Amino acid sequence: MSLTPATPDVPAPAGPGTAAVTEAAEEVHTARTLADSRPPGDEVILAVENLTVEFPTDDGVVRAVRGVDYELHAREVLGIVGESGSGKSVSSMAVMGLLPGSARVRGSIRYRGQDLLTMRPKEQRGLRGRKIAMIFQDPMTSLNPVRTIGDQLAEAVLAHHLVPRKQALGRAREMLELVGIPQAGRRLGAYPHEFSGGMRQRVMIAMAIINDPDVIIADEPTTALDVTVQAQILEKLLEVKDAVDAAILLITHDLGVIAGMAHRTLVMYAGKPVEIGDTDDVFYEPRMPYTAGLLGSIPSLDGERDVRLRPITGSPPSLISLPPGCPFSPRCPLATDVCRETEPPLADAGGRHLAACHHSDQLAEAADATAFFKEER
Ligand SMILES: Nc1ncnc2c1ncn2[C@@H]1O[C@H](COP(=O)(O)OP(=O)(O)OP(=O)(O)O)[C@@H](O)[C@H]1O
Ligand code: SF4
Ligand SMILES: [Mg+2]
Repeated sequence: MSLTPATPDVPAPAGPGTAAVTEAAEEVHTARTLADSRPPGDEVILAVENLTVEFPTDDGVVRAVRGVDYELHAREVLGIVGESGSGKSVSSMAVMGLLPGSARVRGSIRYRGQDLLTMRPKEQRGLRGRKIAMIFQDPMTSLNPVRTIGDQLAEAVLAHHLVPRKQALGRAREMLELVGIPQAGRRLGAYPHEFSGGMRQRVMIAMAIINDPDVIIADEPTTALDVTVQAQILEKLLEVKDAVDAAILLITHDLGVIAGMAHRTLVMYAGKPVEIGDTDDVFYEPRMPYTAGLLGSIPSLDGERDVRLRPITGSPPSLISLPPGCPFSPRCPLATDVCRETEPPLADAGGRHLAACHHSDQLAEAADATAFFKEER
């Protein structure tokens, strides 16, 4: 059984139908880590080029995103990490078309070669929420408290496909099963408040995958949950990624979440990518002090209890009046005059690894790049 598209200009879902999803779910049931999940393909699904987003405000123009470039390949998990206010959500909201009307968005966001920013609104609606789906941090703000889970999931199907309601509800039940909600058929009639936080986040994952997306944007999907439930939800995300054959943009302020979850990692600072590469390279050979600082702020990467924290002191710059040069220079232990004068571009740091730093060679030579930051006493 496959769903029929509601509008003739929107192609039929290319991904697996109901039965195929169930089979795939069984197949991937044992997939627990990124290494077990299906590897990325060569095809570029999403290409973001020189994306900038500005918000004119009474205090001045907020330069929230200042030139973001990345490519997301089929089935790839790209982690986007950075402190609060670094532009992670605004850049992904631009992909989803969810920014307020006041936002000035420039650059290009190509989905399978088609630029979402110049596409007609009707075509955009056919893609966003369907081929590109989003999971938000707080399910309670995305779910309607007075409507049943089944109604809301079925509606997500009916928004994009002309199918009988019964079929949409069948799909909803199947998705709840896929994300591990027990007694899925019965729970279709439940309201959001009758679910635990973790279960609600599973419902949000079900909602995101119900129309067979190619791209899932997960913005801080586990921040509101306790650590054990966080791990279960991330594991579930990897499972469903394979079940629907989607790529994931995993957004978080917590570098610890990315480890083991993302093929590649992009680090954002003050609205710009400052380091991007294979996750192992970024973790074990950081070439930008801010990344090293984030690594030093993780309580423990290897479970050793006596590892001292080396936090980054100071706060991120104002996006209305950025300092000249490298925006990290006021907080950077390696900053020199050139840093305070010229903002470094992203440059080759070996292989697929890029970093924006005038002194990345000093990090390359250091035995422990986090040691540039002072230990907490
Ligand atoms: N509508 C808006 N008007 C003005 N400024 C905005 C608007 N939306 C976001 N911003 C600003 O854009 C910057 C980037 O915000 P964004 O939400 O992308 O940060 P983030 O990296 O997702 O942070 P967090 O980890 O807190 O979610 C912030 O300084 C924020 O205040
Ligand atoms: S360019 Fe200079 S200030 Fe910026 S991160 Fe590199 S060393 Fe630090
Ligand atoms: Mg955010």
